[in-house]
Amino acid sequence: MNQSQQKTILLGITGGIAAYKICDLARQLVRAGHKVKVVMTAAATQFVGPATFRALTNNPVATELFDDPAAPINHINLAEEADLMLIAPATANVIAKLTHGRADDLLTTTALAFQGRLLIAPAMNTQMYLDPATQANLKTLEQRGVTLIGPATGQLACGDSGPGRMVEADELFDKVAECVHSSTLLAGKKVLISAGPTREYLDPVRYLSNRSSGKMGLALAREALRAGAGVQLVLGPVTEPVPVDPHLTRRDVVSAEDMHACMTEAAPKADLIICTAAVSDYRPSEYSSSKIKKPVQPQAQSGFVAPVTLIAPIVSLTENPDILAGLGQMKVEGKLRSDAVIVGFAAETDNMEASAAEKLERKGADFLVANDVSATDIGFESEQNAVTIFGKTAVGVDVLRRLEKSSKTLIARQILETVYPRG
Ligand code: CTP
Repeated sequence: MNQSQQKTILLGITGGIAAYKICDLARQLVRAGHKVKVVMTAAATQFVGPATFRALTNNPVATELFDDPAAPINHINLAEEADLMLIAPATANVIAKLTHGRADDLLTTTALAFQGRLLIAPAMNTQMYLDPATQANLKTLEQRGVTLIGPATGQLACGDSGPGRMVEADELFDKVAECVHSSTLLAGKKVLISAGPTREYLDPVRYLSNRSSGKMGLALAREALRAGAGVQLVLGPVTEPVPVDPHLTRRDVVSAEDMHACMTEAAPKADLIICTAAVSDYRPSEYSSSKIKKPVQPQAQSGFVAPVTLIAPIVSLTENPDILAGLGQMKVEGKLRSDAVIVGFAAETDNMEASAAEKLERKGADFLVANDVSATDIGFESEQNAVTIFGKTAVGVDVLRRLEKSSKTLIARQILETVYPRG
């Protein structure tokens, strides 16, 4: 991350059990290269100690208005220094104080003095959240330009279930990243991304497919847009929200053959091609335009059904085109821009490193991003990922970077920073 992307994030923590989630958020923000300052109310320190945040952020943690003799007007310094302030968890009490401009501790004084983008993540009991007073306060804050994140609905610490749960650290991280991140890494560049699964239909109602949610490809599309690129997204069937942006063109496809046609057509103009799609390697050799029926059992005679063994049909499969390998071949044949960068993804369950390196060579990619899909907490359908980026080096294909488990947004940004521009 260069200097202009490094921001100062001020985290205001109030007294709620969800304060523990802010440890993970602080860690993610620091890892993303930001300077993180923390202000805690006295109640917040009952849940997580300031020493934890001091260690995570490598910065002093402020809790009292007059606790720093070297900075007698600390609230003004903190407010002026921060690019963005996030109050999380935000209790009903702090929300009420912010609404009415009440400044009776370091956190609320700093928030009142802060002139930049303010985000708050409410966390409270469902009845407190739904109370007309809290609802009116939140509405007022929103009208003043404060960004509300959540709350989520679910099981609460008090045992109730309903709206009031603070959203998870990953969602807070993504929101902060969205607000502070602007980059020119891909300004004016054309990025072509394939994402999601493909579906290979046997008949009008049945198909072969896989568990890909498209989240990684969509995160890459969002990050490429944020980095100034024009993005063409070739998208298999997904339920995830797709960004709506004047610089994004979306082509919806169903089968591997459709995706192949779209990617091949768009590739010659692209500066960067990223194949995240989980393409079905095979499709049924034959498509039945009417629904395939089970063989009919012989009619029952006088109430007696003769035992019959039904023979299960065998579906014969035909290999689909390998889209990534085809694009690699186009580059060799001079049909792509000479400086086009091709990035493949590899989902592996065993022998990840050897398989990934072999795949990069075989498919003619410049980089290959490998993830271990046998891990249940990352990869398919998950908000998080952990990947290893392979590339060509003087000694052959080798690991360029290992990105440890974090949100797909952060992983996407780090992938883009690694693969483009090269060198
Ligand atoms: N890919 C593709 N076309 C295919 C199959 C895969 O473009 N028909 C691309 C994927 O988008 C991904 C890369 O190839 O970028 C690797 O996908 P993966 O499923 O891991 O590899 P496969 O070639 O299918 O190998 P295998 O399933 O045998 O591991």
